[in-house]
Amino acid sequence: MPATVIVGAQWGDEGKGKIVDLLARHSDVVCRYQGGPNAGHTIIRDGETFALHHIPSGILYPGTTCVIGAGCVVDPRLLVREIDDLEARGVSSRDLKLSGNAHLIMPWHVAIDSATERHLGRLQIGTTRRGIGPAYADKVARIGIRVQDVLDPKILRQKFETALAEKNVILERVHCVEPLELAALAEEMEAYAARLRPYVADTSLLVDRALKEGRRVLLEGAQGTLLDVDHGTYPFVTSSNPVAAAAATGIGIGPTRIDQVIGVAKAYVTRVGEGPFPTEIEGPDQARVRELGAEYGTTTGRERRCGWLDLVGLRFAVRVNGMTSLALTKLDVLSEFEEIPVCVRYRLRDGAETSDFPAHQSDFHSASPVYETLPGWREPLDAVEDIEGLPAPARRYVEFVEREAEVEVNLIGTGAERERVLMPRGLEALAGRA
Ligand code: IMP
Repeated sequence: MPATVIVGAQWGDEGKGKIVDLLARHSDVVCRYQGGPNAGHTIIRDGETFALHHIPSGILYPGTTCVIGAGCVVDPRLLVREIDDLEARGVSSRDLKLSGNAHLIMPWHVAIDSATERHLGRLQIGTTRRGIGPAYADKVARIGIRVQDVLDPKILRQKFETALAEKNVILERVHCVEPLELAALAEEMEAYAARLRPYVADTSLLVDRALKEGRRVLLEGAQGTLLDVDHGTYPFVTSSNPVAAAAATGIGIGPTRIDQVIGVAKAYVTRVGEGPFPTEIEGPDQARVRELGAEYGTTTGRERRCGWLDLVGLRFAVRVNGMTSLALTKLDVLSEFEEIPVCVRYRLRDGAETSDFPAHQSDFHSASPVYETLPGWREPLDAVEDIEGLPAPARRYVEFVEREAEVEVNLIGTGAERERVLMPRGLEALAGRA
């Protein structure tokens, strides 16, 4: 039984949590393959809102194994808080498994993330300040502390002391901020380590076994394609690889085990943080989209920048992820608009137009959108139960996306609740099992 990847097709916040939640019902194992508490997946279940940061959405289904893979970075303090919050609301964390190879976000990573952003001033990336970049930097520099280090208090203490001594020099001398205090932090960390120990597992082996036994495995990406450190809009990106191929390395399975890649895109686009954004809306419609779509960050509460759908970016996401189908979320947010611009090409500095995403950053930074304007539908989608029930212009909007991005749209989001989705070819087609 092959594995299915869910990947963000834009700059994150596409509504992946909702799609994962939908498919998790029919999955045995749900895995996060990269990122950390910079992500925030919101799921509304029976009127109750769950905001998950580390833990895959599958946790809401008893009996579903949830994996935090080797490609992730984990803040012990926040993960323990997340586990406790779920337990307090009657959601068991018994089936949560944490890769020993994932890296830990330490208090100095958070301090350095904030200090670096302050230092960069106008040039800042607009990170979530959760210590993501510094934690991945230490991983690649081979000086990180891993989840498996929580299994041995002596080793953990030793690594903690060594790392903190060096990081305090950086905090004090480079960033001119107060150093962190060893004794209290080390004690706190040891307490978190004890809490996390029971969850540590060989998750690569676990997922491989599940696949061999014919179980359904869902691999859930965080952030989105355009925030990918290799393929996104560098340097305004996150420090990991959200793209679908990274699901294999992030979990520890071979790429041949993956055969479905479901991309998730909003019917418009949002971006949090700095960086170029060709279709960012000018004028009052930006605030209108933000209000209608409740576009505020789950993790930071920041206002999201809002733009019209960018098909150049979407085509790129279809390509780099090898997307086999697309989920188009939040179509209902566009219901208020008389006309809806959709970006079909970029105009570059020399006046040339391209439908391919620019390979060079300077071309992207100066690209202006070439819009085609589609008619709106000006009616709510609340009562729509199937694709035939969609107003004709809304249906045409979806067909336009399919044609232009060359991908089948197998799910359309029409509202925040988990039931508010249309699946033109059914759930099995969405999951690639039709
Ligand atoms: P970092 O991942 O906190 O280092 O932030 C780097 C960039 O990625 C910033 O522009 C963030 O706003 C953005 N980012 C990180 N996580 C998310 C997410 O889950 N949704 C949207 N943007 C994100």
